[in-house]
Amino acid sequence: MEFTEVIRDRYSCKKYDGKQITKEQLEAILEAGRVAPTAKNLQEQHIYVVQSEEGLAKIDKVTPCRYGAQTVLVVAFDRENVFTYPGGNRDSGIEDAAIVATHLMLGAKNVGVDSCWLNNFNPDILKADLGLPENEEILMLLDLGYAAEGSGPLPNHGKRKELAETVSYI
Ligand SMILES: Cc1cc2nc3c(=O)[nH]c(=O)nc-3n(C[C@H](O)[C@H](O)[C@H](O)COP(=O)(O)O)c2cc1C
Repeated sequence: MEFTEVIRDRYSCKKYDGKQITKEQLEAILEAGRVAPTAKNLQEQHIYVVQSEEGLAKIDKVTPCRYGAQTVLVVAFDRENVFTYPGGNRDSGIEDAAIVATHLMLGAKNVGVDSCWLNNFNPDILKADLGLPENEEILMLLDLGYAAEGSGPLPNHGKRKELAETVSYI
C-alpha cells in the first residue's frame, strides 16, 4: 500500500472475524517493528506473539479489549538497556517501545491486517502470568486480525483536530 493510504485507512478495529492472520503477514508485521529506530540503536524491545488458546486466555484475563483477535502482540522492553537522556530524568524505554509498536501497527495495515492498540490492561498481572523476565516492562498490546463483516471505524476515527490547533510556527 501507499504510505499515505496506510496512515489514512488504519483505524482501531474493535470487532474481528475470528480468523487467524497468515504466517507471511505476521512476519511482515514483525519485520516492520524490527526496522524501527531506537535511541542509540539500543533495540531494547521484546515482542511476544500470543496465538495459543492458553496465551489468549491470559490476555482475556487482563483486558476486555481483544475483540476476537486471534493474534495479540505484547510489546515489552528491557528497562536495563535504555538510554538515559542528559539531565538524568528521562530514558528511552517507553518511547522506543512506542515507536516499535507504531511500526507494528502501520506494518499490519500495510499487509491488510487490522489492529487495535491497547493500554487498558494491568501490565503487572500480565507480566507475571506470561512469565516475563524481571527486567522487562510491558508497554502495550496490539490486537491483530481481520475486521468482522459490518464493523469499521468508530465515529471518532474521522475526528482529528485541525492542524492550526496542534501546530505552531515559531
Ligand atoms: C495509546 C493508545 C491506547 C489505546 N488503548 C485502547 C484500549 O485499551 N482499548 C481500546 O479499545 N482502544 C484503545 N485505543 C484505541 C483508541 O481508542 C483509538 O485509537 C482512538 O479512539 C482513535 O480511533 P482510531 O484509531 O480508529 O483512529 C488506544 C489507542 C492508543 C493510541
